[in-house]
Amino acid sequence: MERFKNKNILITGSTSGIGQACAERFAKEGANIILNGRHFEDDEKNLIAKMEGYGKKVKFIQGDVSKGMDSVSVIEQAILAFGSLDILVNNAGVEKSADFWDVTEDDYDLVMHTNLKGVFFGTQTFVKYCKKENKPGVVINMSSVHEEIIFPHFSAYCASKGGLKMLMRNLATELAPLNIRINNVAPGAIATPINQKMIADKKKMKALLENIPMNRMGTSEEVAGLVAFLASEDASYITGSTYFIDGGLTYHYEEQ
Ligand code: NAI
Ligand code: BGC
Repeated sequence: MERFKNKNILITGSTSGIGQACAERFAKEGANIILNGRHFEDDEKNLIAKMEGYGKKVKFIQGDVSKGMDSVSVIEQAILAFGSLDILVNNAGVEKSADFWDVTEDDYDLVMHTNLKGVFFGTQTFVKYCKKENKPGVVINMSSVHEEIIFPHFSAYCASKGGLKMLMRNLATELAPLNIRINNVAPGAIATPINQKMIADKKKMKALLENIPMNRMGTSEEVAGLVAFLASEDASYITGSTYFIDGGLTYHYEEQ
């Protein structure tokens, strides 16, 4: 089924993990894809070749969304890539682990600027474009269960995703009259490069799985399925919500 035929979709941070899975899912469903990443090397060239194999148009835009003006420029280039932009997936994200008292200003800035500031100004650029062209739009933010539940030793990450929750709720109201929908996807533990260290640590993995009723990590493809639903016409009345995809993690509570 080609739910996204003739749609142009930008996914930020789409050269690995959840972002790449979203790009592949949209391409398989007929969309033209605009990929984004900070580097353009062999891995990125190979990904473009793979994506072109799905038969739709593919463009790669190099840019660092943690830098205010770069996040604006990535959106501007995405609009120019195929002449229009229909759907924006704000996926790029980073996390840094440290006790609260050891968090450096550099790490705080990196996390907040990538996960929140880049989304803020990138989305603003997309909205200005939709408004000027009088066209509808869809925005999906890759949030986290940690927009809602705690994550000790990841205070800046939680602050960024908590901020993303309120940004999304606020924008849903401001953007509905412009015919722009915005929602958050909140994954639990998904097996991607961001979790590489934890996956390699048997003790940490055991503790994590004990918190997940489904007793496994999720896959990027499972998250991409939810993103595709929210981006599709099947979700035409959905805005201002967070959709959790976490194997039951968020509302898990058990007594022995
Ligand atoms: P990942 O590390 O594979 O993906 C992050 C992507 O963002 C990478 O491709 C990276 O190069 C890109 N990126 C980072 N900073 C960037 C920047 N300044 N400009 C452009 N691209 C940048 O990890 P994953 O898991 O796929 O993460 C994707 C999103 O999902 C993130 O926002 C993360 O917070 C979120 N998430 C991940 C979960 C997980 O368990 N894997 C759970 C909940 C949320
Ligand atoms: C984090 C992962 C973590 C997961 C569940 C995500 O937001 O990026 O590192 O495993 O939440 O706690």
